[in-house]
Amino acid sequence: MTDYNKNNPFYSKLLKRELVTKKGSNKKTYHIELDISHSNIEYTPGDAIGILPRNCQKEVDQILDLLQIDKDSTALHPKTLSKVSIESYLLHNANITKLTGAFLEMVLEKGLSTKHQELQYLLLDENKQDRQHALQERSLLDWILYLEIKAIEPQDLVSHLRAMLPRLYSIASSQQISQNTVDLLVAMVEYEKNGKLHYGLGSHFLCLDILEGDRVPIYLHPSKFHPPSDHGTPLIMIGPGTGVAPFRGFLQERAQHNSKNWLFFGEQTRAHDYYYEDFLTDLESKGQLKLSLAFSRDQKEKVYVQDLMNKHAKELYDWIQNGASIYVCGDAKQMAKGVNETLHAIIEKEGLMTKEETKSFTKEMKISNRYLLDVY
Ligand SMILES: Cc1cc2nc3c(=O)[nH]c(=O)nc-3n(C[C@H](O)[C@H](O)[C@H](O)COP(=O)(O)OP(=O)(O)OC[C@H]3O[C@@H](n4cnc5c(N)ncnc54)[C@H](O)[C@@H]3O)c2cc1C
Ligand SMILES: NC(=O)c1ccc[n+]([C@@H]2O[C@H](COP(=O)([O-])OP(=O)(O)OC[C@H]3O[C@@H](n4cnc5c(N)ncnc54)[C@H](OP(=O)(O)O)[C@@H]3O)[C@@H](O)[C@H]2O)c1
Repeated sequence: MTDYNKNNPFYSKLLKRELVTKKGSNKKTYHIELDISHSNIEYTPGDAIGILPRNCQKEVDQILDLLQIDKDSTALHPKTLSKVSIESYLLHNANITKLTGAFLEMVLEKGLSTKHQELQYLLLDENKQDRQHALQERSLLDWILYLEIKAIEPQDLVSHLRAMLPRLYSIASSQQISQNTVDLLVAMVEYEKNGKLHYGLGSHFLCLDILEGDRVPIYLHPSKFHPPSDHGTPLIMIGPGTGVAPFRGFLQERAQHNSKNWLFFGEQTRAHDYYYEDFLTDLESKGQLKLSLAFSRDQKEKVYVQDLMNKHAKELYDWIQNGASIYVCGDAKQMAKGVNETLHAIIEKEGLMTKEETKSFTKEMKISNRYLLDVY
């Protein structure tokens, strides 16, 4: 057990970072190894690691410069009320990507911008949608430039920013194999908006900002998404994209017990985005893993993990009948929904059940921890 948490993180060391997508991929996904020696962190595959990222130093410098705030100025932390350096607060504690209406209100009330009319318009209740859109579009730095703000009291700044939230990443290793490390599989979020390249804070921090040897503040985020305690339970794992991460840890453990495993993995192309290919094909060749691969963009029509579930519907239902558990990890918005619908359709058809019977069957699987989701 460990006492580390988001307010008291463990400073792990970045041991290794390796780009696992190949040149020509649409993505940049990295395998990352963090040193947790002497942390007493004890994890089980399926748990996640919380990361406390850091805002961009250049951006923070620019903000302080524009607002004419001295780096060493202090303010009271809005939650703990302890004295904090403004630079440190902006780097480690504040969400400087998205502001709130309260910030704009403060700017208007204190007369910090000459754009009174626009601020008044945005703050009217009836203009909530426009306000939300504007807040979505600009970061703190963008607002300072746009509203031509020349100064803010450090305390006003600190008190009107949201707190930075930690980012969670599934652990992609087993502590039985690597006692002092935590492996992660992180897809770097980058996108263009208004002609400008934007990065996701947490993934950018892990994948680009820090260098090997640097410290990463982390804490364990325990989960219930653990492999079945009985190694004899057959396991169907559905994890396209970074959803495969926890299953690497599951398989590292289950391979030692000759458990029955079936993994559905999917990504855009086999040539560029086949994460952990050597590890998975090695298990497959040893007969320790059945592998169903859905490379969505390797042919004209998209192929998703659901299509392979359908293709193997009878066998999949046989596994369920033989006591298999089903675990799903990865994208919540599209994939998990599609997989759930497909699973229901397969059980209904292969099990000759009505819709109602299928529903109570899957409900029972959920209650008895045989159908688990870890989606984001
Ligand atoms: C339990 C759990 C486990 C997870 N495991 C993993 C994992 O193993 N690997 C992994 O990579 N991630 C994982 N995640 C997701 C991870 O926590 C982060 O949410 C993800 O890395 C993005 O965070 P970020 O800080 O990089 O981006 P943020 O700074 O949070 O930015 C993301 C935001 O950027 C905006 N955005 C993104 N793309 C676009 C676009 N194209 N156009 C306009 N706006 C856009 C959206 O507003 C989006 O909400 C997991 C999440 C959970 C909850
Ligand atoms: N902001 C966005 O628009 C957006 C979009 C995707 C993912 N995400 C998020 O980004 C994170 C990481 O994603 P990721 O890189 O791990 O992988 P991912 O984007 O989930 O993609 C993995 C594979 O799943 C496929 N896929 C797409 N839609 C699917 C569906 N409805 N059912 C089944 N499979 C589907 C993809 O195919 P194709 O890409 O060829 O369709 C790809 O082959 C997740 O948090 C996810 O939620 C965000």
